[in-house]
Amino acid sequence: MNTIDALNSRYCCRAFKLDPVRKETVLKIIEAATRAPSWGNTQPWEIYVATGEVLERLRQAYLKNLQEEVAGHPDLPRPQSWPLALQRRTEDLMAGRSQLLGIARNDSTGRKTMTQANYKFFGAPAVIYLCMDRGLTPWSVFDLGSLSQSIMLAAKDNGLDTAVAVMLVAYPDLIRAHLEIPDDLSIIIGIALGSNDPNNPGNRFRSPRRSLSDVVHLKGF
Ligand SMILES: Cc1cc2nc3c(=O)[nH]c(=O)nc-3n(C[C@H](O)[C@H](O)[C@H](O)COP(=O)(O)O)c2cc1C
Repeated sequence: MNTIDALNSRYCCRAFKLDPVRKETVLKIIEAATRAPSWGNTQPWEIYVATGEVLERLRQAYLKNLQEEVAGHPDLPRPQSWPLALQRRTEDLMAGRSQLLGIARNDSTGRKTMTQANYKFFGAPAVIYLCMDRGLTPWSVFDLGSLSQSIMLAAKDNGLDTAVAVMLVAYPDLIRAHLEIPDDLSIIIGIALGSNDPNNPGNRFRSPRRSLSDVVHLKGF
């Protein structure tokens, strides 16, 4: 697959088939993705991948927390608020997704179902967790961002889909316990990996983008 096709066809897949992902494929994806750039080639990433029984136990622990209404507490805290324009875009995203799924704006059960899908890791057969030393700066989070997009594109090249989601790392204490991740690592983001379920209507959703004229400021051309 060429790069532009991979960029255009990547989307956040929120429903996967059960089909397992082979270890060799995961390693192939990660090997290609770790060609990502990083500050001074520091390669700050530590990458954990869970599948099979390990992932299943973690999934059950997440669902128990959801049932007991334990608040998510990712290692990298969520923003408390957004500037208005960004807030509007995220509201538009939720409205667009809800409309496709037939969930009304104030339907709390529908919203709970969407949260539950996150905590079920969207049914993915594997989840990749990107971690880095707790003492590192936002520059290393930038490097993890490059790595994460590279993972998603390499997954496309291997015929797989992905969902990058903070909700996957909502309970770092559980991930740390189930995957034996040392305390000195921050668990920054999770990427669900697998084959998309083409029958799930949610997978028909494609998020919009700002127009080029709104985003790009060309000078001297
Ligand atoms: C850092 C980050 C965190 C995200 N967290 C979530 C999440 O918790 N749940 C979710 O469903 N999507 C999550 N997403 C996916 C975004 O909503 C999605 O990338 C965005 O709406 C653009 O849509 P697309 O990826 O389908 O192009 C996250 C994306 C990023 C980059």
